[in-house]
Amino acid sequence: MINIVVFASGSGSNAENIIRYFNYGPSASVDNPIRVAAVFCNRSDAPVIERSRRLEVPVEIFNKSDLESGRVAQMAASYGAQALILAGFLMKIPASLIEAYPQAIINIHPALLPKYGGKGMYGHHVHEAVVAAGEKESGITIHLADNLYDHGRILFQARCEVLPCDTPLDVAAKIHILEMENFPEVIDGYLSKLLG
Ligand code: GAR
Repeated sequence: MINIVVFASGSGSNAENIIRYFNYGPSASVDNPIRVAAVFCNRSDAPVIERSRRLEVPVEIFNKSDLESGRVAQMAASYGAQALILAGFLMKIPASLIEAYPQAIINIHPALLPKYGGKGMYGHHVHEAVVAAGEKESGITIHLADNLYDHGRILFQARCEVLPCDTPLDVAAKIHILEMENFPEVIDGYLSKLLG
């Protein structure tokens, strides 16, 4: 088994999609050892908690000091985690955790990095900035996490068109489709090579 832990802060549509893919879908066969062992969440009212529990995945709730003190790393180790997936996780990962999981922390960002990344650039803020700038395209970036927000080796990007009439909500809907289509498979391909 290759256990992974998914970190999420909000709605959790990506976390749910990843759980369904690895724990329930055709990929959850004997040939694929990757399983979501737990979801870690930093907000006690986040919808991702209910989504995960419904899919019988344990949830751990933690705060900033747990993250920075190393308690979160201990919790991840207690689930046998070999990789961490940041799926809409809005806190900065401390250097100690990055060092504990070399090349094995994967983040998704809802824009074509290096554009529209960095502190404060998450969720709808990203799509609002893309529309305000009159961009003709946007997309998703799946990358390894390092000590900076939305930074690190890019594993995958996919693009979508942004029309002059698109609102930030329209862009969010296009991005959501790209995330659902690609994130689990990119995790699967990358971790199978790294840990398989
Ligand atoms: C996703 O669009 C993800 O790309 C984004 O947050 C959303 C979470 O949605 N992440 C960032 O903006 C990170 N900087 P979800 O909770 O429904 O998966």
